[in-house]
Amino acid sequence: SIETMQHTPVFEEVKNWFPSRHPNSHKGSFGKLLCICGKAGMTGAAELSAKAAMRCGAGLTYLMTPKDACTALSCKLTEPVLIPLSQSSEGTLSHQSIPTILEQLSSTSACLIGCGMGDNAQTQAVLDAVLQHAKCPVIIDADGINALSHHIDRLKEPTAPVILTPHPGEMSRLTGKSIAEIQENRLQTAMEFVQEYPVTLVLKGAGTIIALPDGHIWINSTGNPGMAKGGSGDVLAGMISAFVAQGIEVGNAVVAAVYLHGLAGDRGVQHFSQHAMLASDLISMLPGIFLDLE
Ligand code: APR
Ligand code: MG
Repeated sequence: SIETMQHTPVFEEVKNWFPSRHPNSHKGSFGKLLCICGKAGMTGAAELSAKAAMRCGAGLTYLMTPKDACTALSCKLTEPVLIPLSQSSEGTLSHQSIPTILEQLSSTSACLIGCGMGDNAQTQAVLDAVLQHAKCPVIIDADGINALSHHIDRLKEPTAPVILTPHPGEMSRLTGKSIAEIQENRLQTAMEFVQEYPVTLVLKGAGTIIALPDGHIWINSTGNPGMAKGGSGDVLAGMISAFVAQGIEVGNAVVAAVYLHGLAGDRGVQHFSQHAMLASDLISMLPGIFLDLE
């Protein structure tokens, strides 16, 4: 079935999906998120996704990133645990980082991979290793999707739930269809993809489409062109990952994150305007939204 998200029912329902914060709870009660993001010279996407995840209630956020990217990020990020890894000559993760990543992966509740990672053979090797070993849900965005598009058969029999968050350009790389073809048939493209691959697909853009592996489709009603700026997608990736890490069922986590990300944009333009609003401003809107949800 196909559902359009209407404000009041979705907002009221989403409230019930978040784990309650018992007085005796501790950081371990709200999940451990592993982010594998960033490369030397491209650290903004890693910063935005990790910050968004922390603002969405993840108990512990680990960010694994190549050595030089880590040095830059340590000046900007306070709360996430930063783990520097061995890097390639291009400043992306090298395949030598794989054993360290897999060790961390074994004790994590969700893994986000791809934001600002760069797409080369080493990124592909890291992604392959994560997909082969993950026992927790894996959220793949941006260059993770680009890396996956060279090896799409990896998705046929995933070892854990997989969530993909392509914009139309990334969807084009994944499917081999043109962007125009995708945009003219957004619903059909998303439905066909989840029939072929057992994943949760978030096809972004005005009216983001969420296609669940059981065939259920959601069409998002929030969001506006003020969000058409570099970094908005990284914020969404962090939000989805934080909700999944907290143990919210994958479909609900994705619906809640897409809806609230657009709501942050809709509330954000009231303060910042469509012209001036930045991706980081979306994160600034999250505390007000959670005040209304708690
Ligand atoms: N209406 C509603 N929502 C919108 C609109 C709009 N007109 N424009 C953009 N958005 C939302 C999208 O739905 C999505 O959630 O903003 C987000 C944009 O995400 P991306 O397209 O991934 O953009 P970005 O954050 O810039 O990605 C960062 O990674 O994906 C790569 O190549 C990409 O360099 C880019 C980087
Ligand atoms: Mg993006």
